[in-house]
Order: sequence, then structure tokens, then C-alpha cells
Amino acid sequence: MSMDFPPRDVDRPPLTPQQYEVLHGGGAEAAEIARQRLSRRRFLRRATLAVWGLSATTAVAGALNMLYPNLAGQFGSALNVGNKSDFPAAKPSEAKLDQAAVFYRQEAKTYVVHLAKDTPLLLSGQALSDQLDSEWIVKDSDGSYWVALYQRCVHLGCTVPFRDDCVSFKCPCHGSHYNVDGEFLDGPAPRSLDRFRILFQGESVIVDTSQLNNKVQHPDASTRLIPEPTIACA
Ligand code: FES
Repeated sequence: MSMDFPPRDVDRPPLTPQQYEVLHGGGAEAAEIARQRLSRRRFLRRATLAVWGLSATTAVAGALNMLYPNLAGQFGSALNVGNKSDFPAAKPSEAKLDQAAVFYRQEAKTYVVHLAKDTPLLLSGQALSDQLDSEWIVKDSDGSYWVALYQRCVHLGCTVPFRDDCVSFKCPCHGSHYNVDGEFLDGPAPRSLDRFRILFQGESVIVDTSQLNNKVQHPDASTRLIPEPTIACA
């Protein structure tokens, strides 16, 4: 046969024999002891709530940080990749990796392309302006052209090297081939290379890797900006 005991109040410390006597004897002393025990219980409840609230706040802050990570200074944010003088301009046919016209910046996963103002162009007037805008190519105050090409091949994502021997970008995976300005030349790629927004702060060159243009289609006679290289690229 089992006996049912009333549930034990875990908030309440056991009474000392003296307290037990006083409580059951009644009077002001008993009231004071009861008041102290009530206050202790309130304190414990409030402390429990405070700990719970702190845990919940920490969990929410962690979730927000995962959803909206602070990428300042990292890939995914606007990055200062150097001064304009670090990127000597050249015509497409004279491009040489990290020496003239095409410069790799690992921190931005980007090729900064700086084409000389006397670059031969296939478009002019409004058609040229429109195409520069749509390809996020910036015409500088000295007449030169800047574009920041994402290193990732738009076919299946391999990193595309710039080939000095071909004066163009050639993907080693399946052969997609892109001109110095990132325009598609041949291969399985479904469009031209993607590009980031490029801008200047004084003499500093900023590549904003939070803004990607992945909508530059294969060029045709009405949209191609620079002539195809004359060198065959194996
Ligand atoms: S990933 Fe570049 S051609 Fe396939």
C-alpha cells in the first residue's frame, strides 16, 4: 500500500526546528519568517526568468548573425583593392596578368580590368553608353574603362585563369572562353562572365562584392564591345 505525500516545495528551504516552533505558535515573529520565505521564492522565480530571457536573447542574436552575417572587410562586402596607380591601363591586345590591364585580387575573387582610353571599341554613341551600363563597365574621367570580373566560370563554377598567351580568359574545366572584358567568346558557358560593381573613393578602387551582375548575355554584333582576340587559344 502506497502513501501519497504532498509535493515538496523545491523553492522553500527546510524549516529549522526553531522556525517550526515559532510558525506554529503564531505571532509577529511567525509573520516575519513567512514574509522572508515568500520573498525568497519571488527572488528565485525572477532569477529563473532572467536566465531564461538572457538565453532567449542570445539564441535570437545568434540566429540573426547567421542570417545577416557582418561581412565588413570580407568577400561579400565592398572591398578596397588598391589605388588606381596599382592598375596600369592597356589595350586588350597588350593585356598581361598583374602587369597591364588585368589584375587579380584574391580577397575579392576578382579580376580588375583597366582598359586604356584608346581601346578599339565596336560601338559608339548611345549604343556604347547603354552597353557599358549593362555590363557594369565604368568609364573613368581620363577616358579609360574599368570592370571587376568575378573569377567564377558561369558554366559550372571553376575558377577561370587569365591566359597571357591567349590575351583572354580560358576555363580549364570545359573550355569556356571569355574576352578581356569578360564577354563570352566560345564554349559551353551560358553567358558572359559575371561582374561586381566597381567604384572609386578618391584614388582608391572599390570592388563591391555584395553586388553581382549575372545578366550579361552572349554578345552579338549589336552588343559586343571589343573585337575578339586574333590569337587562337588551345
Ligand atoms: S566550368 Fe568553366 S567551362 Fe565548365
